[in-house]
Amino acid sequence: MAPGKRVTDPLQWGYSLSNVFELLSGCLEAIETKTVLEIGSYKGELTVELLEWAQTRGVKVAGVDPLPPDELEALAKAHPELELLRQTGQEVLREREFDDAIIIDGDHNYYTLSEELKIIGERAPGAGMPLLMFHDVCWPHARRDTYYEPDRIPEDQRQPLVHNEGIAPGIKGTAEWGLPFVWAAAEEGGEKNGTMTAIEDFLAERPGIQLAVVPAFFGFGVMWHRDAPWASAVERVIAPYDRHPVLERMEGNRVEHLVAGQARARQLVKLEEKVAKQEDLLRRLLGSSAFTAAEKLSGLKQRGKPLFTREEVQSLLDE
Ligand SMILES: C[S@@+](CC[C@H](N)C(=O)[O-])C[C@H]1O[C@@H](n2cnc3c(N)ncnc32)[C@H](O)[C@@H]1O
Repeated sequence: MAPGKRVTDPLQWGYSLSNVFELLSGCLEAIETKTVLEIGSYKGELTVELLEWAQTRGVKVAGVDPLPPDELEALAKAHPELELLRQTGQEVLREREFDDAIIIDGDHNYYTLSEELKIIGERAPGAGMPLLMFHDVCWPHARRDTYYEPDRIPEDQRQPLVHNEGIAPGIKGTAEWGLPFVWAAAEEGGEKNGTMTAIEDFLAERPGIQLAVVPAFFGFGVMWHRDAPWASAVERVIAPYDRHPVLERMEGNRVEHLVAGQARARQLVKLEEKVAKQEDLLRRLLGSSAFTAAEKLSGLKQRGKPLFTREEVQSLLDE
């Protein structure tokens, strides 16, 4: 299948940057990138597209993940040209010669992203900054931290945590029916909370850097230095989508449907649990001599036409 043409399951979250591949590769082409680093490759949905795209262009692709899932390991095996780094983004950024473009899609919290940006800002100041692309710069991560491994973050740099809770748009705390997260900040908003807050704090200290935000699939961010030789080429690709109100509206609508779907799925699970208990009770009743006696008694009372029969209950259970 051609890069960018993969169909994402419409019932899933749409968590992969492969959903915005045309924009992402458009930016890579604008800077005529020779190397690209993806921080946080997960199962390799974006990585595989990058590899296919890179093949004909002589571009080198590297993926970073401290805990590569089996799918990513399998991808690395099938594609020896992929450089897979089993480390954190910070570890890699501290020691690696910078790639032309860096995609940051690892741990979505203020501390991790701030540290990654700090390292980049210090090692490649001014117009030497690589093209940076980010995922998850809109809801739910923009103003709320989530953590893969809370222990990786110094305790005094972490938000108060909730474990296995739901998150919903417009709700500052948590909502049982919201999108489930294993570890998240107990509340949305406030200082040092969320990816967008980290990006804004980084920008506040560094003039000359531009940011575009495409409000689709949880938010795709593109950051570049205005004095980079390719700055206007990137701007041409991404500016038409930057904070576009129609996209914003569509994304708002999409996440509301995602949350509603999640709520329905939870209700269904509860309903199934209830039905399973009712079925269990009916089966025990059917197997008891008390049921036979009650069926006969009700037949006598109703002059031969019982209120309920064994066959009736059995056919309900068989449905
Ligand atoms: C949202 S997924 C990435 C999705 C992928 N980029 C895509 O578009 O299909 C985030 C991944 O980042 C990894 N991760 C978590 N903390 C990280 C860190 N500090 N540095 C790099 N990767 C990290 C997780 O293991 C997970 O596989």
